[in-house]
Amino acid sequence: MSLIKATLLALTAATIFTFVYAAKLPNAQVPEQYVVQPNCLGCLCEASTNCNVTQGCHVPYAGAYFCGPFLISWAYWSDAGKPVITNDNPDRKGAFENCVNDLYCAAQTVRNYMANFSDDCDKDGQVTCTDVVLIHKLGYQACGSSLQGHFGTKFEECRSKLQL
Ligand SMILES: *[C@@H]1O[C@H](CO)[C@@H](O)[C@H](O)[C@H]1NC(C)=O
Ligand SMILES: *[C@@H]1O[C@H](CO)[C@@H](O)[C@H](O)[C@H]1NC(C)=O
Repeated sequence: MSLIKATLLALTAATIFTFVYAAKLPNAQVPEQYVVQPNCLGCLCEASTNCNVTQGCHVPYAGAYFCGPFLISWAYWSDAGKPVITNDNPDRKGAFENCVNDLYCAAQTVRNYMANFSDDCDKDGQVTCTDVVLIHKLGYQACGSSLQGHFGTKFEECRSKLQL
C-alpha cells in the first residue's frame, strides 16, 4: 500500500470515528440534564409574582429572603451555581440580588437548578413543568405534596392555557 493510500485510509477512519462517536460520547459521559421549557418558565414567573420584574427583595417571614420575579432565595441561587449578570462576580455582595432581579439571569438560575434537581415529584412517570414548579415552590426534598393557594391556582390556569 502506498503511503498516500494509507494516509487517506487513516484519515477516513478518523473521520468515521468523529462522526459516529463524537455524536455519541457526550451523551454517554454526561448524565442527561433536564431542560426547563420557556413556556414553563413563563408560567412559573406568572404564578410567583405575575412576572413582576420590579418585585425586588422581601422578607415574608423571619429568616426568609426572596428576590425577583421568581422569588428566589440565596440558597437556591447558590445551589444553581451562582450565575451572575454580565461582568459581575459571584462572590461580590449583591451579585445574588443583581442576578435574580434580572429576568434573564433569574431564568438561568431556575434552569441551572432544575438541571441538577429535576425529579418526578408527582410520580406520573415523567418530569414535566408541574414537577419543576413543585420543586421550585416546595423544595426538591419536599416536592411530593401539591401546590396550594394563589400560587397553585395561577400556575394551574397558565399550565392548562399553554397545555404544558
Ligand atoms: C411589582 O412589585 C412592586 C414591589 O412589590 C410593586 O410596587 C409594583 O406595584 C408591582 N408591579 C406590578 C405591575 O404589579
Ligand atoms: C447537585 O445536587 C447535589 C445534591 O443533591 C449536590 O451534591 C451537587 O453538588 C449538585 N451538583 C451541581 C452541579 O450543582
